[in-house]
Amino acid sequence: MIEYKKPYFLDHSFKYIEDAIGCSNGSGDGIYTERCETWIKNKLGVKHLKMTTSCTHALELALQVIELNKGDEVILPSYTYPSTANAVLLAGGQVVFSEVESKHLTLDPTKLESKITSNTKAIIVVHYGGICCKMDEIMSLAKKHHLVVIEDGAQSFLSQYKGRYAGTLGDFACLSFHGTKDVVAGEAGALLFHDDKYITNVNIFRQKGTNQASYKTGLVDFYEWKSKGSSYAPSDFLMAILLGQLELSQEIIECNQKIFENYEKHFKNNDYIGLQNYSRKSEFGLHNGHLFYLIFWQVEQASAFIKYMADENIQVLTHFVPLYESEMGRTLMGDTQPFEFEKNMGRRLVRLPVHPLLDENQQKQVLFVADSFLRRLI
Ligand SMILES: Cc1ncc(COP(=O)(O)O)c(C=O)c1O
Repeated sequence: MIEYKKPYFLDHSFKYIEDAIGCSNGSGDGIYTERCETWIKNKLGVKHLKMTTSCTHALELALQVIELNKGDEVILPSYTYPSTANAVLLAGGQVVFSEVESKHLTLDPTKLESKITSNTKAIIVVHYGGICCKMDEIMSLAKKHHLVVIEDGAQSFLSQYKGRYAGTLGDFACLSFHGTKDVVAGEAGALLFHDDKYITNVNIFRQKGTNQASYKTGLVDFYEWKSKGSSYAPSDFLMAILLGQLELSQEIIECNQKIFENYEKHFKNNDYIGLQNYSRKSEFGLHNGHLFYLIFWQVEQASAFIKYMADENIQVLTHFVPLYESEMGRTLMGDTQPFEFEKNMGRRLVRLPVHPLLDENQQKQVLFVADSFLRRLI
């Protein structure tokens, strides 16, 4: 079976796991958490970073600390994972969807301004597939309207935008090290931010509403309940796994980039009429090659393709159901017209295998089988 994703040499982390088990009880904010935080901070060049239990929780943390009031609106793409929208709802805000552009399925800045009202407080951008949104345009709109920008960088670890890393472009950023990503710890994430004014509230909310962080650094003699909060610090055992992965991360994304380039070259050279679109590389700098998708014109063709590939032992996957099309989206939005371009995207878009263990012959096999299906589409 040619798998869609596969973690890369988790055994590289054995030495750290063994050490973490030997010297700690695995609770949060131990030495491996600190080593991961330092590693990512130095690599990306970001001022503040806290590891979290997931990207979902990093998003929740960001939305909590910007302190939404009832009626505050947050703009985000409909083409995203439910966590992006849930974070807004859990913080008491209202979700406002905005269109993605057809080239990269990232937020379309030309459609954004019409969604901004006097209630808008923030924009969440999603760097879909590791391709960064048009951040210059989005940041200048945000500046004009005094909005906070949060990067949902679940898929964009080590992607770049005009020489800067994704995660350093907005006011906050959220990363994922979930097992389905490229650099993994099973379940983990990180919250990144620049402004010192958020430090205290991030620490308190992340540590169960207490000032445990100040206690740990010796600033206070005891810690206590300070405000509402939750438990978003990951186990240090998981951070031991992550540290090993971080050390391999450059190698991982370079392999993925190569696979992405091969796919892109193939689809550029073959004009398949059954396809509406396919992944294109970023025009803003190197991206991490997290995924490569094909978009079929018709749902039935995409479904037949998935079955055809499965029969040849190749795993390919669909992706997000646009949130406005989901049951929850329809409950929230009522009769609002969905965005035409995104219609049925969740069932028309199919992702091809991308991971560093996919060798040249396997990738050739994926393209050979895909080609034999696509050639027959009229
Ligand atoms: C855009 C986006 N945001 C958030 C998440 C949630 O990430 P996690 O599983 O780390 O909570 C995902 C997961 O795939 C995602 O794709």
